[in-house]
Amino acid sequence: MVPAAVSANERESPDSRGACATSLGQGGAQVSKNRTMDKHKVKRQRLDRICDGIRPPILNGPMPVRPLVALLDGRDCTVEMPILKDVATVAFCDAQSTQEIHEKVLSEAVGALMYHTISLSREDLEKFKALRIIIRIGSGYDNIDIKSAAELGIAVCNVPSSSVEETADSTLCHILNLYRRVTWLHQAMREGNRASSVEQIREVAGGAARIRGETLGIIGLGRVGQAVALRAKAFGFTVIFYDPYLSDGVERSLGLQRMGTLQELLMHSDCITLHCSLNEHNHHLINDFTIKQMRQGCFLVNTARGGLVDEKALAQALKDGRIRGAALDVHESEPFSFSQGSLKDAPNLICTPHTAWYSEHASIEAREEAAKEVRRAIAGPIPDCLRNCVNKEYLMAAAQWSGMESVHPELNGGAAAGYRFPPGVVGVAASGHPATVEALVAASHPLIPTVSHTPSPGQTTKPDPDREIPTDQ
Ligand SMILES: NC(=O)c1ccc[n+]([C@@H]2O[C@H](COP(=O)([O-])OP(=O)(O)OC[C@H]3O[C@@H](n4cnc5c(N)ncnc54)[C@H](O)[C@@H]3O)[C@@H](O)[C@H]2O)c1
Repeated sequence: MVPAAVSANERESPDSRGACATSLGQGGAQVSKNRTMDKHKVKRQRLDRICDGIRPPILNGPMPVRPLVALLDGRDCTVEMPILKDVATVAFCDAQSTQEIHEKVLSEAVGALMYHTISLSREDLEKFKALRIIIRIGSGYDNIDIKSAAELGIAVCNVPSSSVEETADSTLCHILNLYRRVTWLHQAMREGNRASSVEQIREVAGGAARIRGETLGIIGLGRVGQAVALRAKAFGFTVIFYDPYLSDGVERSLGLQRMGTLQELLMHSDCITLHCSLNEHNHHLINDFTIKQMRQGCFLVNTARGGLVDEKALAQALKDGRIRGAALDVHESEPFSFSQGSLKDAPNLICTPHTAWYSEHASIEAREEAAKEVRRAIAGPIPDCLRNCVNKEYLMAAAQWSGMESVHPELNGGAAAGYRFPPGVVGVAASGHPATVEALVAASHPLIPTVSHTPSPGQTTKPDPDREIPTDQ
């Protein structure tokens, strides 16, 4: 480990990032920065020469002793830090795009943790020069070009399990809201509407419908789709589904009716709920044409991905009454605003801000799982050591094609590492004292912030029994 004495004014608190950014061009920091920039330039030129557009085969090459792991689109690393602090330096970027990511992270980060609020296209991925592992803290990974990542030697993992129940429960909330109109009734009361007479009740609760006997159509019967199916049955729905990628028999295991085509599902559903992953084949799966195949006045729920629904077509269908009501947690453009876009005047619409997944429990669980996956990657071998690698097939194919060895356990990890961060550029304050600040010294890169060890509410403070990897200290 590179020892580092960090004085209070060298440390950067999350809130002082703006101030430090301006200090980049000043005094001694600039000299040191230039030297490091030169080194980066040389390193980058070398990399560019090795593979024109394709990175060198570093999948299981020597791992830095204390690799840099960066949270790209967030700032709270208090859950990840205790899991990673003895094997990695953790920084956060709080970025919405790769343009906002600091040069040091782009050139040295070996691991990246990310939520859904940043996207990594091939062009973005190519900016990272040392990256080997990306972990999506969540299940959907449509915001990452996983094939390009594989071709660049980067494994991509997700955390598929942590929010299954929350997302299914949120979906049921939306479905129940559409049938029982709770949100609109609440709104009516807030607006001062009275419902003391039966006539007034009929008026204010008009459109409320009985669930038993209705048919719920699920598009995409994966983890969340199945959890929704089980819950919906308890409410009296007849549940049908369409998922062309599942093998025969799943309908029998779960006691559901399988539809052979999307059209069949659309024609037979009173309420349609989307639970498929977004991919290159199903963008705008719900569009003008498919809406016309739905039953007149059906409901639509989407807690999967915004890109699955053509919002312009949905807005028109809501205005025409072809769709009776819709509930969306996800949108074509996020963060969603009621005041912009095609849906701004759409009636009978309930929206939530991509929060179906969230509960304190789910969030902490996802972050812990993500950090553990990074630990596994540091110890290697990638991708075999990984629990939830979503581009393993592409990685294997790319490895064969480029001649990169896919498995070199002896090379992937601290013990055999032949690379260290240059002394004085990055260091980590002596750790092992959870109450202190784990400071990332960035003398020549003051943009990289420090990470506090204050546990977030509900965070596990016990030692983690799942730490199968010995420390490198
Ligand atoms: N709103 C949120 O907060 C939130 C939380 C978790 C998951 N999600 C999203 O929910 C969706 C489901 O998540 P999951 O964990 O159940 O994923 P999953 O991978 O377990 O299931 C997705 C299913 O969709 C099927 N599918 C893919 N394309 C299809 C198509 N064109 N037609 C029908 N089926 C198709 C797949 O075969 C698979 O069974 C994903 O899009 C995910 O990103 C959203």
